[in-house]
Amino acid sequence: MSSDSNPSAAKTFHVKSFGCQMNVYDGERMSEMLGAQGYVPAEDGVDADLVVLNTCHIREKAAEKVYSDIGRLRRANGSKPVIAVAGCVAQAEGAEIARRAPSVDVVVGPQAYHRLPELIAQAQGGKRAIDLDMPLESKFGALPKRSANQRATAFLTVQEGCDKFCTYCVVPYTRGAEISRPFADLIAEARSLIEAGVREITLLGQNVNAWTGEDDKGRDIGLDGLIRALAKEDGLARLRYMTSHPNDMTDGLIAAHGDVEKLMPFLHLPVQAGSDRILAAMNRSHTARSYLDIIEKMRAVRPDVAVSGDFIVGFPGETEDDFQATLDIVRDTNFAMAYSFKYSKRAGTPAATMDDQIDDAVMNDRLQRLQSLLNEQQQAFNAATVGLPTNILLERKGKLDGQFIGKSPWLQSVHLIAPELSIGDMVDVDIISAGPNSLGATLRQYQEA
Ligand code: 5AD
Ligand code: SF4
Repeated sequence: MSSDSNPSAAKTFHVKSFGCQMNVYDGERMSEMLGAQGYVPAEDGVDADLVVLNTCHIREKAAEKVYSDIGRLRRANGSKPVIAVAGCVAQAEGAEIARRAPSVDVVVGPQAYHRLPELIAQAQGGKRAIDLDMPLESKFGALPKRSANQRATAFLTVQEGCDKFCTYCVVPYTRGAEISRPFADLIAEARSLIEAGVREITLLGQNVNAWTGEDDKGRDIGLDGLIRALAKEDGLARLRYMTSHPNDMTDGLIAAHGDVEKLMPFLHLPVQAGSDRILAAMNRSHTARSYLDIIEKMRAVRPDVAVSGDFIVGFPGETEDDFQATLDIVRDTNFAMAYSFKYSKRAGTPAATMDDQIDDAVMNDRLQRLQSLLNEQQQAFNAATVGLPTNILLERKGKLDGQFIGKSPWLQSVHLIAPELSIGDMVDVDIISAGPNSLGATLRQYQEA
């Protein structure tokens, strides 16, 4: 253990999160916990006394990145910060990390990070600390109350883990079984965020729409019930949720999009592929048709809904015809935005040992064709919002003088010049221009937030 720190000064820390929004949320909770322990945030990892790398294991490239990042933490004089590896690579690779990267002091899985302070203390005593437990007690109960630091938006994890076992995916192994956090805890956490100034909350879960719980009257409710309860909170302006699985897309949740005003017209619903043969091999337990039926129902109650998806090209055995079916479902759905990936073989998953792994050159070609269609659709969606009266929530300052960047109801980034406004304001605007990744707007009229 070596550190450059001055023992009399406050210790500094830096948390770097990779991958999904759940990791962003976990990273924030770890930062809040370290703050409560007296640590002060540092801008950069290299200068900090403690660095937490909050890692992602979903694809090989993301998982390998942790090792180069660890290497970069060594300083010119040979010293280094205390290094903790958290997140899904920690869970999946455990002691292997310590073997490959001896400079790592702490390895902690995504269900055990509330124990980080003890683990750091153990490491400081000279004994490397590894905690990959998935304890019965919830980490959430052991974390300090939320502090929102003047932000307009926040994530709130309501559900974790996955029981779906898609054959390509490591999440059921790294994040464990599906668990829903209790209703009362979620209302309390939402209230502390709102009190701290948050106006928009995104409910998070690997299968967020599988959330279930009992409301304050003991009634069994699903995500739609939770959304309806949260929508009653004064001060909260907007609600979103992600990521959903098609099989948990209930009629009640779809109906909520029709009548809960605070629920934004946005649905992130991964489909992964358009060929039923590939969907079956992926163990997705839905078909292209059942996916399209959900989209149709959603558009019937909320015609302007922005649909977003995830795609994998080059799953083992995928033929050109299968890939054409993916392009077909994209054309039939019409996406506002999407994430698409080349299949990445993950050790321990059933797909890793399937025959007919696809050549990288074929995957590259398919990914490029898919992305050009998705980009066209995104551009068309953005262009169609020009001229629409809408509102945006200002999230941060832009590069120009008096400029803000906010989000439209459809999760597009919107640039606006309005020096008299502040972060957290909800303002009525006219969209005047659209690029591939963002919109421009002018102020329509100012509303007191
Ligand atoms: N290879 C490529 N993409 C994957 N995803 C999950 N596992 C893999 C894998 N092995 C993608 C899926 C999922 C998103 C979070 O990551 O599209 O929805
Ligand atoms: Fe992975 Fe499938 Fe679970 Fe999503 S639903 S986390 S892709 S196993």
